[in-house]
Amino acid sequence: MSRASAPGKIILFGEHAVVYGQPALAVPVTQVQADVRIEKIFSPGIRINAPNIQLSERLDKLASSHPLAATVSNTLHALKADSLSSVTILIRSSIPVASGLGSGAAVSVAIIRALANHLKKDLSDEQVSALAYQTEKLYHGTPSGIDNAVVTYAKPVYFVKGQPIETFQVKKPFTIVIGDTGVPASTKESVRDVRVQHHKNPERYETLFAAIGSIASTARQLIEGGMPESLGPLMDENHALLRGMKVSSPELDDLVEAAREAGALGAKMSGGGRGGNMIALVQPKKAKAVAKAMKDAGATNTITTKIA
Ligand code: MEV
Repeated sequence: MSRASAPGKIILFGEHAVVYGQPALAVPVTQVQADVRIEKIFSPGIRINAPNIQLSERLDKLASSHPLAATVSNTLHALKADSLSSVTILIRSSIPVASGLGSGAAVSVAIIRALANHLKKDLSDEQVSALAYQTEKLYHGTPSGIDNAVVTYAKPVYFVKGQPIETFQVKKPFTIVIGDTGVPASTKESVRDVRVQHHKNPERYETLFAAIGSIASTARQLIEGGMPESLGPLMDENHALLRGMKVSSPELDDLVEAAREAGALGAKMSGGGRGGNMIALVQPKKAKAVAKAMKDAGATNTITTKIA
């Protein structure tokens, strides 16, 4: 049996603007994971078992554009191992889907690494991320590539589309409370809507993207400089700009507001928006109270995570 796992992720700063070439910061969230096991079976062929989405099917029965089938086929092709047979690929994940926590990217990365382990072949992080990006395109249309990057490297990343991945150091750890609106939301749709708005009103959107990009750059300096508590106002500002781009939602705004009122240093939506998750920066001693306030305001789940 071979296995591999991959973490979830949150975007700290820069979602959406990153699709247009601005920098963004993302960090792994290890409290949630995708886990893939490859086991030998007696029947021929490759079987994919994904109980979270009630899928149990032979690979050759799935459409070639199915994201799980495409991930397996592209990886086998890259590994020059087209003849793999008599195995089940068991995919399990505790990362909620369509929530901005990178579940699709984590499942892809775990499948790719589990297959490489099974075949005793090496893939560099760069190759893993590039393969996962192929599947991200099936899920999200025109993704920037930040999700597959942060999930592959499992480290804080400073990401600029088309440039080599930069990981960065967190000089002083800080605490984030993640709140789930419980509203599933399609990143593909929100990215598409931003594209339409950008097309209609390029100047306004370019200004919004540039403002978000400069927040992301400043945030990196603060994190590397050991001043994470100063990130709060930047989160508030980034959230306001995302609202201006119409990618927030009443549920996200409610949780952001509740977190701030309960003493968070700043809060914003995270990921594609319109639902999914938001994040709040807190002093560790305030984490419980902020998480409770977010639950009271409708969060279906909260995760408190230390970024180190
Ligand atoms: C999704 O996690 C982040 C977005 O910026 C889309 C992307 O970068 O591909 C909304």
